[in-house]
Amino acid sequence: MTDRHVLPGQHWYEGVLFFGYSPPDILDAVKHFEVRDDDVFIVTYPKAGTTWMQEIVWLILSDGDFERASKQQVYFRSPFLEFKDDILNEVGLDLANPMPSPRVIKTHLPVKLAPTQLCQKECKVVVMFRNPKDLCVSYYHFYRSSSSFGNFKGTWTEFVDMFKDGHVDHGSWFDFTRSWWNMRQHDNVYIVFYEDMKRNLKKEIVKICGFLGKQLDDKTIERISENCSFESMRNNPMTNHLDVYSIDSKISPLLRKGTVGDWKNNFTVQQNEDFDKFYQSRMDEFNIPFQMVF
Ligand code: A3P
Repeated sequence: MTDRHVLPGQHWYEGVLFFGYSPPDILDAVKHFEVRDDDVFIVTYPKAGTTWMQEIVWLILSDGDFERASKQQVYFRSPFLEFKDDILNEVGLDLANPMPSPRVIKTHLPVKLAPTQLCQKECKVVVMFRNPKDLCVSYYHFYRSSSSFGNFKGTWTEFVDMFKDGHVDHGSWFDFTRSWWNMRQHDNVYIVFYEDMKRNLKKEIVKICGFLGKQLDDKTIERISENCSFESMRNNPMTNHLDVYSIDSKISPLLRKGTVGDWKNNFTVQQNEDFDKFYQSRMDEFNIPFQMVF
């Protein structure tokens, strides 16, 4: 593996690239994380709509506790398992371990690095996928805005190459996606697409409720859907991450555009053709029904 795009502060862990906020000792500990039967894991590659799904699942499991959701940031209600922030002294595992059930836990790890108990317990795993072109654009802007990534100063063209090579935080999107797609037959794994949620959020929320075994009345589902619209979440200080010191929202906020097809504003015709060829070489046999545009 060539390290041509590896930046200072990054390290390899079992062939996957990570930044300092997921150090090896934390990744070791995550494998031994004590999973509970009533845990719900939100599994995404970065920028697939993780925060969106965390807020939705947390509201579903709490029977629509909007009162508490309006008082505590989503990243405290739903800890990021492999995260460690030395400045804030915040460790995802330390937040998750004492948390009362049912817990909503976020991770960006591929199957091979996820807690080993994930498939042994009756916990539920919601895997959220987003088409890789929009995701790549979103990740590029996040790299620019985040001090965790040194407020990336490289070009879009450089970033697309890094993304294809898997030389970005949490490694290859292609490896991550294949690993979780192969888990889709497990009873406790449910796959949701970002684009389907954009198309009909309420319908997807009802389906997620079904998977989680929760029966909510129509009014509560309607309210969750309104609360989790892009505009609502962008204006909500508990979900918009404007208070997160490492994200410079003036460069690019976490809730940036929230659309399908923004990649067309970023990929050149040549980049798009190259990306399609690369995608086919890595993913074609899997036939994952990604929607690049509506
Ligand atoms: P864009 O950069 O394309 O706007 P993550 O939470 O995994 O970091 O993903 C962030 C991406 O999800 C951002 O994409 C953000 O706008 C989008 N997102 C977050 N909440 C959303 C919502 N309620 N509706 C649509 N997109 C949302």
